[in-house]
Amino acid sequence: MTAERAILTTSRLTMRFGGVVAVDQVDFTLKTGELRCLIGPNGAGKSTFFKCLTGQLKPTAGSILFADRELSGKNTHDIVRQGIGIKTQVPNLFDGLPARENIALSARQRHSQKRSEEITDEMLELIRITALAHREVGSLAHGERQLIELAMVLAGQPRLVLLDEPAAGMTAEERGRLASALRDLAGRMSLIVVEHDMQFIKDIATEITVFHRGRVFIEGDVAEIMAHHEVQEIYLGKEADGAA
Ligand SMILES: Nc1ncnc2c1ncn2[C@@H]1O[C@H](COP(=O)(O)OP(=O)(O)O)[C@@H](O)[C@H]1O
Ligand SMILES: [Mg+2]
Repeated sequence: MTAERAILTTSRLTMRFGGVVAVDQVDFTLKTGELRCLIGPNGAGKSTFFKCLTGQLKPTAGSILFADRELSGKNTHDIVRQGIGIKTQVPNLFDGLPARENIALSARQRHSQKRSEEITDEMLELIRITALAHREVGSLAHGERQLIELAMVLAGQPRLVLLDEPAAGMTAEERGRLASALRDLAGRMSLIVVEHDMQFIKDIATEITVFHRGRVFIEGDVAEIMAHHEVQEIYLGKEADGAA
């Protein structure tokens, strides 16, 4: 089996904006089926790293290998076609259609009508939003819309899913649903989640990569990272200030 194989590897990945080195020679590896959180203080380079992976930015230097194919320099459309699902912070929904139709349309891009219906039902259950299936998405709350959009990304059956602050603006209850769904997904697909809500990260109990000043500062499991003195200084301390 290929469980221990890397699905994504970046080598010396670098993104400069003029004189600012936002991502600085980052070597990063994600194993197949792994769920990984990227954390770090504001300005650490998380979003820039994420945008390099999604093709929203063209890296200045370095490489991004996904299933042994080079992604660096490719556009988002091509990256999605390689089997990467991308959820950014701006929901991209058809407000006039029911949730179920939105998800089915996404599945339909790759599958037969019949298979799309099955996938749609699976995703509604997996994300725990079956009760929303027949609601028009225009009438839903922000967090519910985020959950629908996640279901749409997953309905494309990607091998790797990239989520940028998926819990942002969600209620505690919605966050709980999302955390459960992400735990269920790990192993079935590979996931990278950019997130700064430490409680949410504890809930998904994931492996963590800490970014600091454009570099990978340290990697480890939740307990190791939370107990790490310097991480508390660079990240948790600032987070505590900012949370007030
Ligand atoms: N489009 C841009 N142009 C210039 N500088 C940018 C741009 N995007 C990000 N930066 C800078 O890159 C650094 C990393 O930012 P970012 O990746 O957004 O960090 P994070 O997501 O960890 O908060 C910051 O210094 C930020 O000001
Ligand atoms: Mg960011």
